[in-house]
Amino acid sequence: MTTPGPGVTFQRMSETSPLISMHKVMLRYPTGKTALSGVTLDILPGQFVYLTGESGAGKSSLLRLLYGGVRPTSGQMTVQGLDMREAREGRIRDIRQRTGIVFQDHKLLFSRTVFENVALPLRVQGWETERLIPRVRKVLEYVGLADRLWSYPEALSGGEQQRVAIARAMTANPPLLLADEPTGNLDIDTARRVLDYLVGLNRQGTTVIMSTHDLHLLESHPGRVVELHAGSLVRDNA
Ligand SMILES: Nc1ncnc2c1ncn2[C@@H]1O[C@H](COP(=O)(O)OP(=O)(O)OP(=O)(O)O)[C@@H](O)[C@H]1O
Ligand SMILES: [Mg+2]
Repeated sequence: MTTPGPGVTFQRMSETSPLISMHKVMLRYPTGKTALSGVTLDILPGQFVYLTGESGAGKSSLLRLLYGGVRPTSGQMTVQGLDMREAREGRIRDIRQRTGIVFQDHKLLFSRTVFENVALPLRVQGWETERLIPRVRKVLEYVGLADRLWSYPEALSGGEQQRVAIARAMTANPPLLLADEPTGNLDIDTARRVLDYLVGLNRQGTTVIMSTHDLHLLESHPGRVVELHAGSLVRDNA
């Protein structure tokens, strides 16, 4: 089942230039731990990419690089046309506003309603409440939770919370959506349903990069598989 999502109006990059380009990228954390070494990877607009690899392989670190949560230690890297090593913090913030993120632990605010959680990326952009309501309602309709607008996250199941996290990630209509283990801890049917929403967004043109251990999800939703092992890229079926 793939529900059609809200129309995509965000300006897209040229279909031919990579949305993400990494060349020999290395990431070393301040602790001295090298999380990624020599990763070379291009991702084109509109692709659906599964990022896989064992625990500690570097999946979350790679996603963190893509939204500017950390900067590469060496190598070349551009995201949505921006040099992620050299760019000023303000430009990185712009990139973050143009990137939907579903975090590994979903990071919903439990003291705020579903509405406020989903509205957050638009509030950051200065949207007025009257304009927010129809947009938030629309994305919650997309994930089948329009009737939970005024619930608090703790009143939702794990799968529902994950769908709220997806709604929040898509609410500002970003051209790029990063999802870190969005189906972890979910049963297979719920996982497939969560994936359906991401695939639906991808069909409308959003580039989706999703880290996962559940490669059996590929049976229902084929895609490009990029595999990391101990910080290096070991498979890419692009
Ligand atoms: N903030 C950090 N500071 C220092 N080291 C870190 C930090 N985050 C991750 N690491 C280390 O970097 C390596 C890669 O971690 P990362 O979280 O990217 O792996 P992962 O593939 O997402 O694993 P998992 O499947 O368990 O989520 C690990 O050795 C981890 O301990
Ligand atoms: Mg991780």
